[in-house]
Amino acid sequence: MSKVNIFKPVEQKSRSAAPAPPTDSAAFHAVVDSRRSVRVYADDPIPESVMEACMDAALKAPNSSNLQTWEIHHVVDAAKKAALVEACLSQPAAGTAPELLVFVGRPDLWRRNNQWMLEAFDRAGTVPESAYQYYRKITPLVYDQGAFGWRTPFKWWITRWRGLRKPIPREPIGKWGMRIWAHKSTALACAQFMLAMRAHGFDTCPMEGMDSARVKRLLGLPRQAVVTMVISAGKRAEGGVYGAQQRFDRKHFIHRH
Ligand SMILES: Cc1cc2nc3c(=O)[nH]c(=O)nc-3n(C[C@H](O)[C@H](O)[C@H](O)COP(=O)(O)O)c2cc1C
Repeated sequence: MSKVNIFKPVEQKSRSAAPAPPTDSAAFHAVVDSRRSVRVYADDPIPESVMEACMDAALKAPNSSNLQTWEIHHVVDAAKKAALVEACLSQPAAGTAPELLVFVGRPDLWRRNNQWMLEAFDRAGTVPESAYQYYRKITPLVYDQGAFGWRTPFKWWITRWRGLRKPIPREPIGKWGMRIWAHKSTALACAQFMLAMRAHGFDTCPMEGMDSARVKRLLGLPRQAVVTMVISAGKRAEGGVYGAQQRFDRKHFIHRH
């Protein structure tokens, strides 16, 4: 097999010729500007088709290595919902919401999804060798932390040593690094879900004010799973948003270099 440089652009025949579709920036900003965290919901239900469309939108979020190590647990069972509200410390954003979802990162499932990717490539039949190499060589190197994390100290030292001379990807290192890694992509799915809800005229509230151990037990999740956030959804009640949106001056956060 010839040596393939996965960081070189793929050959022309493997690229999409489709032009970027036109978009409506005003509609997008109307969605962004009207999204607020809602603490009190009206009783209006959300149509199932809207829930499905918004969850599908969430799953289209960009994600690391396209390994999609996330899950959305839509809690519809009344008893489980009540238990989830309790695990969310009975806060009104959970208690008054017609819909509750838990967004979960699954760093433990990277290998399964990596295999799915290779199988999808086989089915497509037109995938360049560099893509195969990425999922056969690079992802195991980057994401495999070894049983009980035995590779962690080696990765840490090798990364520091090799990084002295040239740029290298440094994260994720260790089991905690993998958790952060999964949280990043899952959080993007959360954002995409909340914006999709708003685009359909509904509202949301992200919550990390919850007992993640209880949430995991309720959903039957393994130890390695990470609860990125619980998101409630519904139609905002009158007065369901607390005050005007408050943001600090953008000069503190946007830096030009
Ligand atoms: C990760 C995360 C956790 C949050 N947890 C809670 C929560 O537990 N309860 C709550 O009422 N709001 C929660 N929020 C909502 C924030 O308080 C809210 O986004 C922030 O005050 C800005 O208001 P806005 O979303 O209306 O712009 C959370 C938001 C994020 C992103």
